Amino acid sequence: MRLDKLLAHSGLGTRKEVKKLLKTKIVEVNEKTVTDPKTHVDPETDKVTVGGEKLDYQEFVYFMMNKPQGVISATEDLMHETVLDLLEMQDSLQEPHPVGRLDIDTEGLLILTNDGKLTHRLLSPKHHVDKRYYAEIDGIVTEEDITRFKEGVTLDDDYETLPADLKILSTDEDAGTSVVELVIREGKFHQVKRMMQAVGKEVTYLKRLEMGPISLDNTLELGAYRELTSEEIDLLKKS
Ligand code: URA
Repeated sequence: MRLDKLLAHSGLGTRKEVKKLLKTKIVEVNEKTVTDPKTHVDPETDKVTVGGEKLDYQEFVYFMMNKPQGVISATEDLMHETVLDLLEMQDSLQEPHPVGRLDIDTEGLLILTNDGKLTHRLLSPKHHVDKRYYAEIDGIVTEEDITRFKEGVTLDDDYETLPADLKILSTDEDAGTSVVELVIREGKFHQVKRMMQAVGKEVTYLKRLEMGPISLDNTLELGAYRELTSEEIDLLKKS
């Protein structure tokens, strides 16, 4: 990769600022002063120092966010704030993107990364990554619904879902509401809401708790995020 890109992605300024920095002759590649921004460097094998300090560059970044309502899980949107707007400037430099989508009114676990290979694997319909949700429901969820979810539910466009695990946490007969947890293995548009509609109920609140081996860190406030640990990254790569 170009040296100016590496320096900019490491938080040393814009490409223009980095060019100026190079002119001051404080950047060395493998112990030789380099001033040409176009110099090709391999961040894995070349030693890059700025003012004698070794550059700590990671090619890929991985974050988990507790997505709040009202924010779109896309890279840009004309009307609404996106999850990328919630990232600190420093964490946006390497252009992470959300892995899959949560609806604007869904909260909870969202992974963001610039690792395209991992994103592809996690989202590929071939891989059936489990996604666990907590949901509040308008309607009384029954044992029959559990069976229907286990068998797969037919959505309005005639699509038959894969089996899903539905667990009733509580029901309130007077209010006619339920609280459930469910695990789905696909990521169809509005899937949880449409599965509930297929059994005559409505989701009033939805939060993702897990994606594959990664659980939402419940110390994260809504809108907050943190880097995945190296153990979590390994688990994701192996999943
Ligand atoms: N299912 C939905 O209906 N919405 C989401 O945001 C995620 C899964």
